Amino acid sequence: MTKTSIERDQYGVFGNPIEHSKSPVIHHFFAELTQQPIQYSKFLGDLDSFEQQVKTFFEQGGKGLNVTVPFKERAFQLCDVLSSRAQQAGAVNTLLIGKNGDIFGDTTDGVGMIRDICDNHSQSLTDKRVLVLGAGGAVRGILEPLRDAGPSTIVVANRTLSKAQALADHFHKQTTPITASAFETLEGHFDVIINGTSASLDGDLPPLPDSVIKTGTWCYDMMYGKEPTVFLKWAQTLGANGSDGLGMLVEQAAESFYLWRMQRPDTCLLIQKMRDDLS
Ligand code: ATR
Repeated sequence: MTKTSIERDQYGVFGNPIEHSKSPVIHHFFAELTQQPIQYSKFLGDLDSFEQQVKTFFEQGGKGLNVTVPFKERAFQLCDVLSSRAQQAGAVNTLLIGKNGDIFGDTTDGVGMIRDICDNHSQSLTDKRVLVLGAGGAVRGILEPLRDAGPSTIVVANRTLSKAQALADHFHKQTTPITASAFETLEGHFDVIINGTSASLDGDLPPLPDSVIKTGTWCYDMMYGKEPTVFLKWAQTLGANGSDGLGMLVEQAAESFYLWRMQRPDTCLLIQKMRDDLS
């Protein structure tokens, strides 16, 4: 027997703004694929009472939430239990409620990006020299899974060098050295370059020396859109291939879905459908 919308397990996403969110479409697609009885809604988070809104959602029987800009750090603060990757990131994008009423927080952005790069795009990160552009919340959320993917070195470059240095200090491990740099002073070339700045949003490109790209360098932009981002266009002019972050969006959602439902939906179909819808 199919469940009515009232009987379906309730999930949702909090953000502000939230209108643009594709999460309901993505999670309803996964639910249909895996035959899970869920209802997923968008909620406009209130800047003053976000924490109370989350508590009320769970008190009313809600099973799980995604959290997006600008609430990821505040959601981190309200959790009773955190995954180790969330502790490292200092932010969460996925919440679920335990049997005892504890709120558990995790971050799936980084693992989503690694799956997109390594599985969907067949790029190995093992023993690669990786350059990460940006040192904001988005980059903080991906550094641990990136480091765990086994690159030989990671350089974090940012407009504000002190922020890159803070991340390098936090995530550095002897097995995978992480160093900080300004854009202009980057030295040498890289196998993989990941853009985690929000510069593309303004149509800007970080002032990178062309020498960071060599034959075979592969470039990834965590942003996506109908047109290739400014960063990807720049990479193309220097002969580098790459991808935008549409697949990351779908993969991070798939990981949230797995945490909630213990089912791993196939993502390829949806990525292709969303790509078609963009054009
Ligand atoms: P997010 O959550 O998307 O990471 P954020 O925490 O505000 O947002 O971080 C934005 C990142 O993009 C930062 O690394 C920022 O550089 P600064 O730390 O120097 O502010 C970077 N950024 C934003 N606009 C940029 C631009 N026009 N050129 C280069 N870097 C830019």
